[in-house]
Amino acid sequence: MTNFKKDFPLLCNNNIVYLDNAATSQRPSSVIEAEKYFNENLNANPLRGLYSLGIKATDCYEASRERVRKFINAKKNSEIIFTRNATEAINLVAYSYGLNNLCRDDEILVAISEHHSNLLPWQMVSKATGAVLKFLYCNDDGSYSDEAVQNAVTPRTKLAAMAVVSNVTGQTNPTGLLTKLVHSNGGVVLLDAAQSVLHTKTDVTDADADFLVFSGHKMLAPMGIGVLYGKEALLNDMPPFLSGGEMIEYVTTEQATFAPLPHKFEAGTVNASGAYALSAAIDYIENIGFDNIERQERQLNKALYEGMSSIPHVHILGSDKYDEHNGILSFTIDDVHPHDIASILDSRDICIRAGHHCAQPLLKHLGVISCARASIAFYNDLDDIDRLTENVKNIRRLMGYGE
Ligand code: ALA
Repeated sequence: MTNFKKDFPLLCNNNIVYLDNAATSQRPSSVIEAEKYFNENLNANPLRGLYSLGIKATDCYEASRERVRKFINAKKNSEIIFTRNATEAINLVAYSYGLNNLCRDDEILVAISEHHSNLLPWQMVSKATGAVLKFLYCNDDGSYSDEAVQNAVTPRTKLAAMAVVSNVTGQTNPTGLLTKLVHSNGGVVLLDAAQSVLHTKTDVTDADADFLVFSGHKMLAPMGIGVLYGKEALLNDMPPFLSGGEMIEYVTTEQATFAPLPHKFEAGTVNASGAYALSAAIDYIENIGFDNIERQERQLNKALYEGMSSIPHVHILGSDKYDEHNGILSFTIDDVHPHDIASILDSRDICIRAGHHCAQPLLKHLGVISCARASIAFYNDLDDIDRLTENVKNIRRLMGYGE
């Protein structure tokens, strides 16, 4: 295994086992330095100043957009909108596309495993337009059968929303089949790549996604920068989501005309240092390469699944095949509340998440109220997995139960 931890100051400065990568990833020095460099050398309000520093800030911001475009293989820079995060990107699509293109009796199809961020905006659109919110239900292991997808898509499906990878079970969802079926009925698909973007190649052209979203902070970049990809023809027809500075062409006291893409959707001062750091994160990821990332994560995934599944009283949510977890392992321990699991592990300097993971409908569907979740990234190592499993083995004893 390659040692990547040396690139991550937080992991070098703290003797912790960080296994909450599905919530947020850590940042390598090159990303931290990029943000610092922007702040120390390039900071001015982009897209406004006519002085050299303002022009440099604008150039860097737009170069970051081009970097993102290449990274996800979009055709045009106008299809890349910077947002605060994936949640804001989904809300943009819901308010701007959903409210203006859906109507009574249309169907919005949402996978039951979606994070609340890819559900609540569609509940809002459904209430406002009268469109019917329908759910696609997964099997007990979190997977979706082709048959379930085929049965759920109808000629009325005007929009479908699905994550590429579930943040609870780690299952890779059948986004290809869903997209094909929805397109054949004239609908559009929004894919949430938040949990996949750091772990496997994202290719919007290959996926034929209409909209695709992700957050920078789950792919080594800072919090507060995210991306909405949208097909140009769709984005062109959509009204602005937020209005105000820099998204206009011409303003009178009564009305305004709007800037062309992508600026129509980037109202107010943007997070230019975040975009600059995001492009440094992409450089770092591409320098390692997804082949290496996947190889490293496969070993960690296997060790994590095998270590945890061999512990008595531990129950893993989702597949019984390690390679269907994408580094996300949600689990319960008989008689122990997940918050106690997380607190006990925290007392051993191990960071995991516990709760409903912002996916309450999925947990209800799987018959679980809450669970603990360990999630890896390529910079974890086998020692992290050993420390987790050794400590999980002791949890029931610490809580006063037998072995
Ligand atoms: N979406 C993040 C998670 O699943 C916060 O933990």
